Amino acid sequence: MALVDDALPLNRLDQWRRERSTFLIAWDEGRPVGHAHLAWVGTKLGEPEIQDVYVAEDARRRGVARALTHAAETEALARGHGRLSLSVGTGNFAAQALYDRLGFEDAGLEPERVHGTIILRGEPFEVDDTLVYLVKRLS
Ligand SMILES: CC(C)(COP(=O)(O)OP(=O)(O)OC[C@H]1O[C@@H](n2cnc3c(N)ncnc32)[C@H](O)[C@@H]1OP(=O)(O)O)[C@@H](O)C(=O)NCCC(=O)NCCS
Repeated sequence: MALVDDALPLNRLDQWRRERSTFLIAWDEGRPVGHAHLAWVGTKLGEPEIQDVYVAEDARRRGVARALTHAAETEALARGHGRLSLSVGTGNFAAQALYDRLGFEDAGLEPERVHGTIILRGEPFEVDDTLVYLVKRLS
């Protein structure tokens, strides 16, 4: 994990608990190029939730996030889950296009404003975003 941590943000690394979540890492010839944190419990919708999706800038538009999402779907199905959820910022058009393309739909919740200081791995970050929750039925 140290190799991945050196190359990518891994913002939720301190939330990773083997019994509660899974970190998926995308590799390109030995180099980590993307990650996704898959929370199994304690999620907004009560369904497994994909979080902390990030792809290295020079590896984008090559299907890495698509592959991470498919891996999350496969893992969720293998554990007996029928749905997968996530949230996306209203201004994040790349992520919206990605999840729309992959078949995620609005979960029907009110958009959630996230405003203020959040702590990621001990560091404070100012955020001002509005999150929309999406869900996909798995088959
Ligand atoms: C959003 C993000 C994860 C996409 O990763 P990626 O590996 O480049 O995405 P993929 O190559 O798998 O894209 C799959 C499809 O999603 C859509 N898509 C992805 N990025 C897009 C963009 N910038 N603009 C428009 N559509 C986009 C396209 O339909 C794309 O298929 P195509 O390339 O055949 O047209 C990446 O841009 C990223 O890490 N952004 C910063 C962090 C972030 O926003 N995370 C998501 C939080 S919800």
